[in-house]
Amino acid sequence: MSYTVIARRWRPRKFEDVVGQPHIVTTLKNSVKSGRIAHAYLFSGPRGVGKTSISRILAKAVNCVEGVREEPCNVCPTCTAIDSGGFVDVIEIDAASNRGIDEIRELRETVRYLPMEGRYKVYIIDEAHMLTEPAFNALLKTLEEPPGHNIFVLATTESQKIPYTIMSRCQRFDFRRISEAHIVEQLKRICQDEGISYEEKVLNYVVREADGSLRDAESILDQVISYSGMHISEKDVIDVIGVVQREVAYDMVRCIIERDAKGGLELIARTLEQGHDVYQVYRGLVSFLRDLLMIKVWNDKPPFVFMDSEEYERTKGLLKRVEYYEIQNMVHHILQAEDLIRGVFPKISLEILFINLYNLGQLRDVERILESRTAQAREPERKTDVHERREPIAEKRHVEYPAAAEKTVQHQEYETHETIEKRSPVAEIPVQQEAGDFVSYLRAKSVRLFGFFGSLDMNAEDDTVVVSLDKRSDYLKEQTDIVNEFKNHASDFFGKEMRVRFVAASGERTDTIDDYVKEAERLFKI
Ligand SMILES: Nc1ncnc2c1ncn2[C@@H]1O[C@H](COP(=O)(O)OP(=O)(O)O)[C@@H](O)[C@H]1O
Ligand SMILES: [Mg+2]
Ligand SMILES: [Zn+2]
Repeated sequence: MSYTVIARRWRPRKFEDVVGQPHIVTTLKNSVKSGRIAHAYLFSGPRGVGKTSISRILAKAVNCVEGVREEPCNVCPTCTAIDSGGFVDVIEIDAASNRGIDEIRELRETVRYLPMEGRYKVYIIDEAHMLTEPAFNALLKTLEEPPGHNIFVLATTESQKIPYTIMSRCQRFDFRRISEAHIVEQLKRICQDEGISYEEKVLNYVVREADGSLRDAESILDQVISYSGMHISEKDVIDVIGVVQREVAYDMVRCIIERDAKGGLELIARTLEQGHDVYQVYRGLVSFLRDLLMIKVWNDKPPFVFMDSEEYERTKGLLKRVEYYEIQNMVHHILQAEDLIRGVFPKISLEILFINLYNLGQLRDVERILESRTAQAREPERKTDVHERREPIAEKRHVEYPAAAEKTVQHQEYETHETIEKRSPVAEIPVQQEAGDFVSYLRAKSVRLFGFFGSLDMNAEDDTVVVSLDKRSDYLKEQTDIVNEFKNHASDFFGKEMRVRFVAASGERTDTIDDYVKEAERLFKI
């Protein structure tokens, strides 16, 4: 006997069985009951939330042998034929696979004829946004004619691609993502019915992965069951879900940290060749970076980060080589790229995203340069230090009371530093140098602020710190809290009330992901 997947077996067969979407179910039921059936419907919304299922329930409700009714009977020959996809008057067209020209042309002919067995001919056009222009035109002509026995249901995940002329002739229903609570409830129902037992957290993992799609949740559950058998442990789920994404995410971050751009790009090419979806890879990366950030903040594995001990050990090794602010920058950057990854050029966007994250790693190089600059600036002080130590008393003091001696030296150094900064008129110190020192100061005072400002060009002019913002950091000027905090540190450092002025970075590089995609769009004339 062949196995039917859970998602098919659990397709709702009447309105009452539909999970979520109450606004749609109620409206449709009422319109069927009162006989006010629209000529054309547009069902839009994410995948796996009930569009096809509800189209079929509607088709049954209007054609059921028992009469047009709120709920189909589901036992008459018509209802069962529609369920099995073999009813002559319900025509399903998948616009994604054949783009529908022939079907729509044929449809232009057949809409004239009365239904053969049912009351209405129901045309369910799935992924309707994929229809070609001629197909849309043919469809429009059909929609303009008023035959009373046809019902069109256009289902789409991308309603913005449906021409307005078509859209305006449809009654529109926006399907929503199914809530996590509803998905968990349905998964529980399924497990109970199928005699599956599971550890507590298992369903949470599945739900998290499904991201609002009930079909996805059911498919994942199916995969997990075929791996684990009748009892699902937490480990089974971790093994089945996203193992690939997790590995890929780890390797990608490793390439960034180890400054291996080639390795990272090869990894992306290889992963996509193996048939993995760009968006999945992206999500894996987001979730892995989030975990890195949490571990770094927690300084241990937080209870809400799901990782087995092997992965944790490996990750810890990786974390040793990266600073908190670097991960924070990466997370910030990657979250902004979501629309592009979902956009027209997912693969290019992923590659560019990787390169941008890789470039962020240069922060560390900048940091090293700054460190050596600061060291150079302090060189004269150090020399004094050495001289002092050569003096017997100092030496002795150092030997006898190492802790106290250390403190004194540090204190002196600090005082000197402060006094110089306060006394020196700005013009006497090269501006760059001063700003460079300020950056080191910032790093010592607030890793968070250093994360935001450390890589930006800054200049001190009288009582103003001038910060050059590039596209990537432009958002900072709107972040009042951050700017105020930054201003306070600047005032402390320069020893007077400082102001902050933002300017656009000149000669800005155009390799941000936005620009790349814009350029691509220009080239391909999209
Ligand atoms: N709202 C829902 N209620 C119950 N099951 C659902 C719902 N949405 C999706 N499913 C499950 O997912 C499967 C696919 O749903 P489908 O209606 O084809 O989604 P869509 O057409 O929106 O992509 C169904 O067979 C069912 O198992
Ligand atoms: Mg569908
Ligand atoms: Zn029936």
